[in-house]
Amino acid sequence: MTESGIVYLVGAGPGDPELITVRGLRLVKQPDVVVHDRLVSLQLLEEAPPRAQRINVGKTPGQQHRQQVDINALLIAEARQGKTIVRLKGGDPLVFGRGGEECQALAEAGIPFEIIPGVTSATAVPAYAGIPLTHREVASAFTVVAGYTGGPDSVAVDWEWLAHAETLVFLMGVRNLPKVAQRLVQHGLPSETPVAMIHWGTTAAQVVVEGTLTDIAEKAKGIPPPAIIVVGQIVKLRQQLTWFDPASGHKPPTPSSIEEPHPMEAETEKHERLKPTTLETR
Ligand SMILES: C[S@@+](CC[C@H](N)C(=O)[O-])C[C@H]1O[C@@H](n2cnc3c(N)ncnc32)[C@H](O)[C@@H]1O
Repeated sequence: MTESGIVYLVGAGPGDPELITVRGLRLVKQPDVVVHDRLVSLQLLEEAPPRAQRINVGKTPGQQHRQQVDINALLIAEARQGKTIVRLKGGDPLVFGRGGEECQALAEAGIPFEIIPGVTSATAVPAYAGIPLTHREVASAFTVVAGYTGGPDSVAVDWEWLAHAETLVFLMGVRNLPKVAQRLVQHGLPSETPVAMIHWGTTAAQVVVEGTLTDIAEKAKGIPPPAIIVVGQIVKLRQQLTWFDPASGHKPPTPSSIEEPHPMEAETEKHERLKPTTLETR
């Protein structure tokens, strides 16, 4: 019987390919198979050896995609052939990445796995927009929230509680931005609270829109996913701390080459955007 292989769940970081960890990059350079999400930088995929099979299991809006259960089964099947698999996920694999579910499936199947944490977009994207999530004089806590409330994956959100948080960071909230802003005001957050929406943070395509809970939905209309929304007084620090502004030619890093909306937030708006390089599943 073939000895079981191993699955490495590797966090690819938020977009700038240089934000992967040293251990993550070392592992990407040596697997038999890379099973990756759609938002992962193509430059990182190029780091895998030419012989490594690349399997894109990401979701493309309007196209058929693999269900989570099928992705779990794929990882198990490949590992049972004795292969070394890198499961490459955007940001940190355990932050809204279903990495926990994949580890559970592997554990139940008796497949060895390791988790290599990544730089999550929840903190890195605000950082590239010049927004620290905490500051001794402004905010001593931050809360990260899934912004797709009301959708099929939604869990109940305690708006009352959120409206009393200091800094709020919403992921996957583009489509629901008007609702999010409205709910926060309804539950007591002042309507003039500063808000920033950051699209494709950490990459050369980064765009930041600033406003308040009253006008951010209007100002950010048409900005597609992926984007992060930061709410709180901390956003004001951006005026002093902007250090990365690709639009003005300010320190752009190597860009991520995937420029697509996030699958969980299918949007209808059409935008002038760079076309992604097509990924072959071999
Ligand atoms: C399914 S979640 C995965 C989060 C990921 N595991 C992490 O730790 O960053 C995808 C969401 O992350 C956010 N996101 C990821 N990369 C981003 C980027 N470069 N710029 C803005 N938002 C990003 C968006 O809100 C997007 O909808």
